[in-house]
Amino acid sequence: MNKQEKARTPDKENPGTESVSTQFRGEIENLITQLQSALGDAIQGMDDRPAFTVGAEAALQALAEPLPDIGCGAQKSIEKLLQLNAAAAANTGGPKCFHFIIGGNTPAALAADILATAYETVTYTWIVSPVGVQMEIQALDWLKELFGLRSSMTGIMVTGATMANFVGLAAARQWWGEQQGIDISETGMTGLPQMPVLTSGFVHASTLKVLALQGIGRANVQKFCRDEFGRLDLSAMEQALNQLDGKPALIIVNAGEVNTGEFDPVKDMIRLARRHNCWVHADGAFGLFARISPRVAHLAEGIEEADSITVDGHKWLNVPFDSGYAFVRDHGLLSRAFRYSADYLPEENSPRPTLGAIGPESSRRARSFAVWATLKAYGRKGHRGIVEHCLDIAGHFAQQVEKHEQLEMMADVPLNIVAFRFNPGGLSEEQLDNLNEQLGEVIVTDGRFMAGTSKLGQRTIFRPAFSNWRTRRQDVEEFAEVVIELGRDLL
Ligand SMILES: Cc1ncc(COP(=O)(O)O)c(C=O)c1O
Repeated sequence: MNKQEKARTPDKENPGTESVSTQFRGEIENLITQLQSALGDAIQGMDDRPAFTVGAEAALQALAEPLPDIGCGAQKSIEKLLQLNAAAAANTGGPKCFHFIIGGNTPAALAADILATAYETVTYTWIVSPVGVQMEIQALDWLKELFGLRSSMTGIMVTGATMANFVGLAAARQWWGEQQGIDISETGMTGLPQMPVLTSGFVHASTLKVLALQGIGRANVQKFCRDEFGRLDLSAMEQALNQLDGKPALIIVNAGEVNTGEFDPVKDMIRLARRHNCWVHADGAFGLFARISPRVAHLAEGIEEADSITVDGHKWLNVPFDSGYAFVRDHGLLSRAFRYSADYLPEENSPRPTLGAIGPESSRRARSFAVWATLKAYGRKGHRGIVEHCLDIAGHFAQQVEKHEQLEMMADVPLNIVAFRFNPGGLSEEQLDNLNEQLGEVIVTDGRFMAGTSKLGQRTIFRPAFSNWRTRRQDVEEFAEVVIELGRDLL
């Protein structure tokens, strides 16, 4: 083995010896210097870089290589990673990404998240990270205050709204079994009838996935819609509940639909649920943020009465991926649904909390660092400011759509999503659908902005969502112009 190879190989005979630790220590110092300048450029440059990197496929071919026998060393491997990122990363943290619902990072959240990784903080249980566990509890308490939820709800941090839905629905399923004298977490669902699940056409794909995973079944969901857009038919839902005659059921309230940002009638649904024997799960992945601003808080009025609530941090809280939160009214249901015990693990009722025993993950990163840091840094006012900035940006973009003759609004804008399409005039609905689908593809390959197409009823639309504090008025003005420019090219 030559000297260079030796330097890249931890001492196998004597792990933990001075040579290994000296080697790693030196590497870390170099890497921190390397990252300091690279990160500064990457983060500062986000505002000016396009949203998507043209030619990403070609650049990524470099990834297809065999596992190296002898590594190239940390510095070179990180250099390569930086190169690949420059050549093929979507600039999702930047101000021009309106696809899906993607937030940015506040500076405090970003720095705190880097610390969580650097400290290798694992927040399974208090004993492995007193600060991580206590900070998660504190940050969740602050989130409850921010969103006006009951302080008695139990919160848990997970990877995102999909997993927060998983937590809420696991608690719902446990409740439903117990209503019939069965502890589903112990004995499973064998012999139980199908679980009635009622919702509107606004239900999110992730909720259906969770229902599939929990043995409840996607196809078992009853959607009560009064129009092609999926709006709730409340009286049809009421009739179905009447027929259940007191049997326990699950109602899913959708607080924020992804195409338009419209809400189910939250208060009416919960009132209806309370007249029957129902668990209410509310998916407020991004819609719960309406509660922070008096301008839109009415949309989610009454949601605090739900039995379980989902919200995402990596959307409108502007903390790094992956970060979502579930809140559940009955702590006992969570601990029965996610019971996790073994002789070597902490006792269930230890005064030192074990967050891994009330949620789906055991080992888990300290998502709380970023959440706590951003709430501490900017407070309620700062985060209300972010939400209202995004509302203003959505309003400004809607004005651009109104202003340009070749753009057409396709729905009202209750929150932060603007449904619109390119419509040069003189085309049939079918032709317009085809044109906008093609335009969706062209926008991806153009790369200056990211915005995806969807279906609103029968029609193809764009549905840019604004949830990043970095987005400026000029960005959305330019976006409107780019859509028209690329649309005209297609014609
Ligand atoms: C209403 C709603 N629920 C759930 C999700 C899933 O969120 P995540 O990707 O964080 O799991 C989304 C994502 O857009 C959403 O909008």
